[in-house]
Amino acid sequence: MDRLAGNARLMIVSDLDHTMVDHHDPENLSLLRFNALWESNYRNNSLLVFSTGRSPTLYKELRKEKPMLTPDITIMSVGTEITYGNCMIPDEGWVEFLNKKWDRNIVSEETSKFPELTLQSETEQRPHKVSFYVQKDKAQEIMKALSTSLEKRGLDVKIIYSGGMDLDILPQGAGKGQALAYLLKKFKAAGKLPHNTLVCGDSGNDAELFSIPDVHGVMVSNAQEELLQWHAANAKNNSKIIHATERCAAGIIQAIGHFKLGPSTSPRDVMDLSDTKMENFDPAYEVVKFYLFYERWRRAEVEHSEHYLANLKSVCCPSGTFVHPSGIEKLLRDCVNSLKTCYGDKQGKQFRVWVDQVLPAQVGSDSWLVIFKKWEQSGEVRQCCLTTVLLSSKDVSVAQGLTWVHVHQTWLDGAGPNSHTTWLF
Ligand code: GLC
Ligand code: MG
Repeated sequence: MDRLAGNARLMIVSDLDHTMVDHHDPENLSLLRFNALWESNYRNNSLLVFSTGRSPTLYKELRKEKPMLTPDITIMSVGTEITYGNCMIPDEGWVEFLNKKWDRNIVSEETSKFPELTLQSETEQRPHKVSFYVQKDKAQEIMKALSTSLEKRGLDVKIIYSGGMDLDILPQGAGKGQALAYLLKKFKAAGKLPHNTLVCGDSGNDAELFSIPDVHGVMVSNAQEELLQWHAANAKNNSKIIHATERCAAGIIQAIGHFKLGPSTSPRDVMDLSDTKMENFDPAYEVVKFYLFYERWRRAEVEHSEHYLANLKSVCCPSGTFVHPSGIEKLLRDCVNSLKTCYGDKQGKQFRVWVDQVLPAQVGSDSWLVIFKKWEQSGEVRQCCLTTVLLSSKDVSVAQGLTWVHVHQTWLDGAGPNSHTTWLF
């Protein structure tokens, strides 16, 4: 919550399954496009919030399966668990608030009287969330009956139906929308209300997000019937909410452009990155651009031209060094030379590179230290290095570009070397 000194330029609050993450795209292209856009243009001054129905257990599983960025704030279990930062520190105030008028034993007791309800897995039963599967054609009727019987027992609950199959029972004050309202209230009290907030979703448990005042909203093109119906009945005339024509993360990018919330061209959609004219040279953009080139070079998606490597060498400081995660130190220019032999070695293969949490800090009048996580996925193998890059604009104006002075990498815990892979950068 305290990562930014001032107000966020943009806060994105996005659902994960079928919104940020497209389970029908094995290449994860729209997610990777979003990642490159976020890291190059927003990470440094904006906030990324993931709001998912998943429990911490299933959320962590998804992070292992998909090339997801690390959010600043994670809201899990349908707005019942709020955590901050990489260490996922829980918001205790939220837990206390949710304890009011809630007794999960009574919920278990009452729901056991409905044979139509099938309990979800143990991981999805949380302190403030009891979850079932229920058939679509029975959902409305069961929800009504349940709400009556729980009310009779003195509970004030919220029952939500999502994805045409999931039924969640939560305390009345919980839910994705209430969790966002709680966050916004906290930001306001700290004088740090984001300049813009964009909520993104596809299913029933996301509906509440769209009812929070003053936020922009995007229902991705593949949104579920239940969300579209909710919108038609409750928010039809709200011009701050759109139904994107693009699926999942591509729909989020579309909404950023539609509402003019900031840059909406992902570097992944720019083929000739050397041509990008930049008014203010940006260290984060530089890092994203370099690793995108590296991916394209190995996938043979850029022309096989010495010209590219010559360009790269020209932005490396002549005495610049690279400390490989193995500890071996080399000249940066020699590392660029070694790229010659690996052109197209990943052509037609599953090979993707992405960077996460790219955070530049100006450390001198003409130098920047950029720290980030560099991920590389080759087939089933995924590796990550914590990477530090020292960039300098010495002897040139910043608009002309930055020189790479030093690169240092160390294996990230648990994402370290694998004997049969080679790590270049
Ligand atoms: C996620 C959760 C599940 C919940 C559903 C809808 O799939 O794992 O427990 O019912 O979201 O909120
Ligand atoms: Mg979803």
